[in-house]
Amino acid sequence: MNTTRTVCTTSLAPSLSRAIHQTLCSQSSKHALRASYSIGLNANRQFSTSRQSHIEFFPPAKETQNIKYTPPAWPHPEITEKQLNGIEAFVHRDCQTLSDKVAYGMVKTARFWMDLFSGYRHDETKPYVMNERKWFTRFIFLETIAAVPGMTAGMLRHFRSLRRMKRDNGWIETCLEDAYNERMHLLTFMKMAEPGWFMKMMILAAQGVFANGFFLAYLVSPATCHRFVGYLEEEATNTYTMAIQDLDKGLIPAWNKLQAPDIAVKYWNMPEGHRTMRDLLLYVRADEAKHREIHHTLGNLNQAEDPNPFVSEYKDASKPHPSNGFENLRSKGWEREDVV
Ligand SMILES: [Fe+2]
Ligand SMILES: [Fe+2]
Repeated sequence: MNTTRTVCTTSLAPSLSRAIHQTLCSQSSKHALRASYSIGLNANRQFSTSRQSHIEFFPPAKETQNIKYTPPAWPHPEITEKQLNGIEAFVHRDCQTLSDKVAYGMVKTARFWMDLFSGYRHDETKPYVMNERKWFTRFIFLETIAAVPGMTAGMLRHFRSLRRMKRDNGWIETCLEDAYNERMHLLTFMKMAEPGWFMKMMILAAQGVFANGFFLAYLVSPATCHRFVGYLEEEATNTYTMAIQDLDKGLIPAWNKLQAPDIAVKYWNMPEGHRTMRDLLLYVRADEAKHREIHHTLGNLNQAEDPNPFVSEYKDASKPHPSNGFENLRSKGWEREDVV
């Protein structure tokens, strides 16, 4: 089911979106997002609408006297070309409970407002309005939101473990790794485009609302929250798939020869000859599909007692089971009886 296209159904929404976006951004469309592309590992700026003063907004790591390199806290798991290309998009896990329906409704509502304020429209029945700047706007905004749930869930589970003096059964680690991976997506796109003041204000407001809301919601119903993130990741997987499809159709010519920045090449260990923008989108999409699997699975479990199936060892290792990597990836997650 193509959830992406069913979210914004009212005829009012696209025109309202355009009106708000034009009003807020027209006097300073340059300020909404400035693209600064890098070709090759030296991050030479091939295309930029940034003012000189903004170039240092996201500077490279500082040279120090003794430190050569600071590696990622969680190295990215290996992924093959076949796995990258085999990611399933437009997959939707049907709502089975009231909690699922609440979670899905919340995602659809969040999606509506995000589309509205980011000026996003991807509707084959209407003229194509996306371009590289709008795509980057969407990616950056999406990633600043996507990195919140993992950190909040990890932190709350850590605190619960401390105050109840009980073990957590391995969930914290996966939640924090999820948040770290999302932040790496953000940092990668920040090497390629730079938000202006309007975007920065939107990000600030969205984090204020979403981080606090998610914190409170996780205290009340962690299972609903994991389901919410599962549905959010369905949307993210669809979004990156549509960007790849548009790139393949030649609708985003600025990306045809665009290379992934150095930070991405190192983090995903992108092989020589597979370091284009298209390759980068394939890696990011695979990560979103992994998050989709993780959170739909965690949403199926007993939150207080079940061990985390993604870091567990199995009695029968020959049977397909969840893992930290991309083998046995299940788009709709694993049912509890299959893993616990
Ligand atoms: Fe992401
Ligand atoms: Fe994600």
